[in-house]
Amino acid sequence: MGIKVVVLAALFFAAKTAATPEVCEVHHSIVLLSPRILSNGTLIDPIQGISYPPGTYVELNGDYRVCPCKIGSMPCLRKCCPLGMAFGPESKCIPKDDIFWVNVTVDDSRNTIAVDAKKHFALLPGRYCRSNQTYFLDPKSYFEDEFFIKSYDGKLTTPYHSSEEYGIDHFCIEYSEKTGDNRVLFCLPEDFHDQTESRRITSLVYPILMLISVPPLLVTFLVYALIPELRNLHGKCLMCYVLCLMFSYILLAISHLGLNTLPNSGCIATDFM
Ligand SMILES: *[C@@H]1O[C@H](CO)[C@@H](O)[C@H](O)[C@H]1NC(C)=O
Ligand SMILES: *[C@@H]1O[C@H](CO)[C@@H](O)[C@H](O)[C@H]1NC(C)=O
Ligand SMILES: *[C@@H]1O[C@H](CO)[C@@H](O)[C@H](O)[C@H]1NC(C)=O
Repeated sequence: MGIKVVVLAALFFAAKTAATPEVCEVHHSIVLLSPRILSNGTLIDPIQGISYPPGTYVELNGDYRVCPCKIGSMPCLRKCCPLGMAFGPESKCIPKDDIFWVNVTVDDSRNTIAVDAKKHFALLPGRYCRSNQTYFLDPKSYFEDEFFIKSYDGKLTTPYHSSEEYGIDHFCIEYSEKTGDNRVLFCLPEDFHDQTESRRITSLVYPILMLISVPPLLVTFLVYALIPELRNLHGKCLMCYVLCLMFSYILLAISHLGLNTLPNSGCIATDFM
């Protein structure tokens, strides 16, 4: 997948929570490096012009950790890149104008309207996944990846996958310059790695067992081929069968072992045969 978390000098997730009053969870907060504090305790983000009333931020060793989701009553939406940035090529965050439109559903239908996300949602910038593993939903290539963002709570639904609704800990959304629309980066479940690991082991064990059974098949074939008395109709059928089985095992083993290294055409060729 090759997705790397983009760390921006100005915006990063604070790692230390010890002994600070929990205004919000660490992964629901961002650090502002040089905010302005008003006399009434309101904190102003000078870059975005967002104000954080007391109770929506906490000071941490001179840094200020703010909780965008705590301001007002707007639904919270996680934006993959910092504000004022969007996905460029290879899904790295690059500067972009501040406009961020998001298509949302207003009722239970699948009709969407475009809303100005900065006005409609409390935007929480930055990627986060407990599993650290993500993939892009790709509704253009896979219809079942079609997703909807609900207007009133910012939850994501993927009706073709499941009836579950996902919040800010399970996905982020970002405009992509390359595709010209919004892309959703979805968190894989935490046990996904174990699943791929076991799949990796089976894809190693199967071909080895198949290759082990190739020599006996070859011996069987040779015995039938070399002894004329055995070469009756039954024997010839058996020779064909054994030879076919041997080649299919070899090809299957190749396609299993070469899953990641074989060029696409080679993979298709071995599967076809
Ligand atoms: C603090 O002052 C600012 C600017 O005068 C004002 O916009 C904000 O509402 C005030 N906040 C509180 C909590 O009184
Ligand atoms: C996810 O990444 C962070 C930082 O790179 C690391 O501290 C954490 O242990 C990782 N979590 C998992 C489940 O791999
Ligand atoms: C919103 O939906 C319209 C119509 O389907 C589409 O053309 C547009 O690209 C979408 N906007 C975003 C930001 O995805």
